[in-house]
Amino acid sequence: MTEPRPETIAITTGRPHAAPDAPLNPPIELSSTFHAGGTIGYGRYGNETWTALESAIAAFELGETLTFSSGMAAISAVFSLVPLGGTITASHQGYNGAMTLLHTLEKSGHIKVRFVDVANTKEVLAALDGTSLLWLESPTNPTLDVADLPVLIAAAKKLGCMVSLDNTFATPLVQQPLVMGADIVMHSVTKYFAGHSDVLMGSVSTNDPGLLARLSDARKFGGAIPGPFEAWLALRGIRTFPLRVERAQANALELAKRLSVHPKVAKVHYPGLPTDAHHERAKSFMKGFGSVLSFVVQGGAAQADAVCEASRVITNATSLGGIESLWERRRRWALESSTVPEALIRFSVGCENIEDLWSDIEESLKKI
Ligand SMILES: Cc1ncc(COP(=O)(O)O)c(C=O)c1O
Repeated sequence: MTEPRPETIAITTGRPHAAPDAPLNPPIELSSTFHAGGTIGYGRYGNETWTALESAIAAFELGETLTFSSGMAAISAVFSLVPLGGTITASHQGYNGAMTLLHTLEKSGHIKVRFVDVANTKEVLAALDGTSLLWLESPTNPTLDVADLPVLIAAAKKLGCMVSLDNTFATPLVQQPLVMGADIVMHSVTKYFAGHSDVLMGSVSTNDPGLLARLSDARKFGGAIPGPFEAWLALRGIRTFPLRVERAQANALELAKRLSVHPKVAKVHYPGLPTDAHHERAKSFMKGFGSVLSFVVQGGAAQADAVCEASRVITNATSLGGIESLWERRRRWALESSTVPEALIRFSVGCENIEDLWSDIEESLKKI
């Protein structure tokens, strides 16, 4: 048989062994303790439902996987690998939760951080010497900047620097960082894997047994374990993950095109647009462009808020990667980087009918 493709992987992995009367789905393993003598022992060390989910994510990212209680818990575990006083090189414009944690760790003297423009390859390369961890996010949240991953990963590895990538926006359907040579790939499972805006979870995947053991200890003793029910829901979400992403990506590309010629829109950020500054780079190593785009409306914060509040199909809410379309003005959050324009709307495109989405957008833009 040929290697299974993503739709087949999503449907076949993480299932119990086939046997007469065996269930098709893993149980929700609700036990905090286990009979002595086995390999799990205690509910903070392992859980059958986590294992099923982890095997499914592992099949997509091609690395041993551990799940956590949230994407931020997974990020904290990765940052905990950096020795006291060590340096992290990271994007100055990425997910604001990760940015805030980096600032906090730096202020408390745990680490040093070199903030760089990840799309500026020269700048990143110049920062690598003496870096313990290169923390990448590409495309970035929320301006969809694309880093030259093959070049940056190769250069960092040459210098013996650990590389970890937040692959939440792209998903493994678009890029597989471990295959490109990264040490760790991290996800907010909350988003595309789970896909229904009803679960918070995170994951890390790696093929380095030493890192896996340290990340496993970070979970065990940091205690940021996922709930069994959440793991079960996330695995259920994965069954339709490729279908959802395929539809959402097609919607995103079409809406990016239409928005880019709308008179009320000043700028669209989406690497799938041939006119986007990151298009050629994205095309060179990505297998798609993802389903998040952002756009800047004419005017300022008030105009962007009015658009977000006017929609009827698209929900004015934070987060992304769900089956439903969400948008929000990013600068409404105090933590958002001041480099993000006040009138920028981040738009997580969902799987609704494209014409219903477009008429909602057109009506909402009339509020300006
Ligand atoms: C790119 C990215 N990484 C990490 C996170 C954090 O994930 P979680 O909210 O599951 O903790 C988010 C959340 O929005 C995100 O957008």
